[in-house]
Amino acid sequence: MLYEQAMEATQAIQQHTETKPALAIILGSGLGDLVTEMRDTVAIPYGEIPHFPQSTVIGHAGRLLIGTLSGVPVVAMQGRFHFYEGHAVHLTTLPVRVMRLLGAETLIVSNAAGGVNPDYRPGDFMLLRDHIYMPGLAGNNPLVGPHDERLGERFPAVGKAYDAKLRALAREVAARHSEITLHEGVYTMVGGPSYETPAELAFLRTIGTDAVGMSTAPEVVVARQVGMRVLGISLITNSATGSETTEVNHAEVLSTADAVRNKFASLVMGIVERLGAP
Ligand code: 6GU
Repeated sequence: MLYEQAMEATQAIQQHTETKPALAIILGSGLGDLVTEMRDTVAIPYGEIPHFPQSTVIGHAGRLLIGTLSGVPVVAMQGRFHFYEGHAVHLTTLPVRVMRLLGAETLIVSNAAGGVNPDYRPGDFMLLRDHIYMPGLAGNNPLVGPHDERLGERFPAVGKAYDAKLRALAREVAARHSEITLHEGVYTMVGGPSYETPAELAFLRTIGTDAVGMSTAPEVVVARQVGMRVLGISLITNSATGSETTEVNHAEVLSTADAVRNKFASLVMGIVERLGAP
C-alpha cells in the first residue's frame, strides 16, 4: 500500500536526522547546485530509502538532502524520478508524500523546460501559473488507483495549484535582481523522452503552452492532494517554437542550466529568506 510505503520511507529518513523540514525543494536538471548553500546537511542516497525508485538520468544525482537554507529547515531532492524512466507515475511522486510526512508544508518545484513562447530566451525563468498535464489527461495521473483516505481526497481540485502569494513573492525577489528575467506562464508536461516535433510544438503553442518539459505536473498534483502550497519555477534552457534551425539536445539543456545555476540559486535563496521571515 502506498501510504505504508510512504510511512516506511519517512521513518527510515528520520533515523538520519532530527531536523523537521518546513519546506521541500525539488531540483531540476542541472539545478542541483543550490545544495552548496545548504548548511548542516544530511545526504541520503535514494538507494538507501525504502520504496524509492532509482534515478537514472545523467545530471540528476539521486539523493535526498535535509538541512537548512537561510536558516529555514528544508528537505531537497537532488534529482527526481520521471515517468519516461519507466517508473509507475504514482512511484515518481512517492517522495512528495514523504516530504509532506517529514513536515514540509510548502513545495518549491523546479525544472528545465523548452521555451514554446517566442518571447522566451534560453536562461530566462518562468513561474508556473498553471499547467497542462498531457499524460495525466490521458490517464497517467499519480492518483489513479484504489483510493486510500490517508493519502488525501479522491478528487482533489488543482485549479489554484500554484499559490498566488508565493508567485508575487518570487516576482518581488526577481525584481531586485537585474540579471534575472522572470516570466509567468503555462507549463505543459509531455511524456518524453523524445523531444517534440515542430508540428507537436505548434500544437502545444495553440493549446496555450509557454514552456514544455517532462516532469513537475505529477508532483504538483500529489502536493495538492496532501495540502502543500506550491511554487513552480522553470528554467528555459532552449527555444522550442518549432522554427529552430538546430535541434535541441540534452547536452544543450544541461549547459544552459549550468550557466545560470547562480541566478537560480539567488532567486530561490531570496524566496526562502522571505518565507523564513513571516
Ligand atoms: Cl524542447 N521539450 C521537452 N519536452 N522538455 C524539455 C525541452 C523541450 N527543453 C528542455 N526540456
